[in-house]
Amino acid sequence: MRKPSYEELCRQVKELENERERLKLKSAARLRKCRAKYDAMLDTVDAYMCLVDRNLRIIWANDKAKKIFGGDLVNRHCCVTCHGRKKPCLESSYCIVRQSFRGETVRHPGTIAVRKDGRKIYFNVMAKVVSRDADGKPCNVVKVYNDITQYKQVEEELKASMLLLRDNLSGTIKAMAMTVETRDPYTAGHQRRTADIARGIAQEMGLPREQVDGIRMAGVIHDLGKISVPAEILSKPGRIGAMEFSLIQQHPNTGYDILKGIDFKWPVAEIVRQHHERMDGSGYPFGYSGNQILLEARVIAVADVIEAMSSHRPYRPALGLDKAFAEIKQHRGTLYDEDVVDAVVDLFDKKEYIFH
Ligand SMILES: [Fe+2]
Repeated sequence: MRKPSYEELCRQVKELENERERLKLKSAARLRKCRAKYDAMLDTVDAYMCLVDRNLRIIWANDKAKKIFGGDLVNRHCCVTCHGRKKPCLESSYCIVRQSFRGETVRHPGTIAVRKDGRKIYFNVMAKVVSRDADGKPCNVVKVYNDITQYKQVEEELKASMLLLRDNLSGTIKAMAMTVETRDPYTAGHQRRTADIARGIAQEMGLPREQVDGIRMAGVIHDLGKISVPAEILSKPGRIGAMEFSLIQQHPNTGYDILKGIDFKWPVAEIVRQHHERMDGSGYPFGYSGNQILLEARVIAVADVIEAMSSHRPYRPALGLDKAFAEIKQHRGTLYDEDVVDAVVDLFDKKEYIFH
């Protein structure tokens, strides 16, 4: 076989170089086309996306991210650009990108980011490693932000409305309590003090906070129905007659009738109606017994007796706490719920409860 001449070899080398250059340009063009296709696709995604390198610098961002965080984001630190930090969080263990580089897919709900105009926006953020080097070490992490600002705003508005409603409700309850107490100055403060003791008992019993709040709320207005009892009877010194007593006995039902149309979170009207029921069925208005009586009403019943016996009444001086406790201990399990009595004894004994 004939050896190629020097000129021929040079020509072949040149052709190979040309072919290599042509292939290089072709693959670069294909790469550009491919990249443009993926960029276009990622620009249609309804999420803000950034690709971040190990130095926490952004190496790519979709259009949506560029618009909200401000222009070309490439080469900028993601924590400074997207989260309004003063410096890159190169050492922070809370950084979602750093966590992700450790190999986890990380999700942070309700993260705050800062727009280019300085306004805060709320996101659910996810970060995940998307490329690794030849040794398997993560090179790039993608951050995907889903905007939940509108949900957050609605949530905050709802919270504010709830607080306002709660304040309004508590103002209405206070007004109701005062309405009874201005007609019956001898028992002024009785409902509030009863409510405080009832709350203490409920806490001592370990009841859930919601239930404790309901007991306190019902306690503040448990005698609301006395509004229908003539003031002369409420403040009459000395013993009252059977007729007058039967009028007073109407107050749980009257309280129920006033409250039943109000949509409380708790069964306030029913608690008020049952606060004079007794465990053995000897109470009123229905003569309910045991578990027929709401636990909340059983708690208020005991608190009511303790407060009433330890305070002055128009028809008698204060009997004192000792007598009040002797009464509830004597009738533990017959008139009064055993657990409630135990809780109130513990409350006053161990914690040195003080009347306010
Ligand atoms: Fe009462």
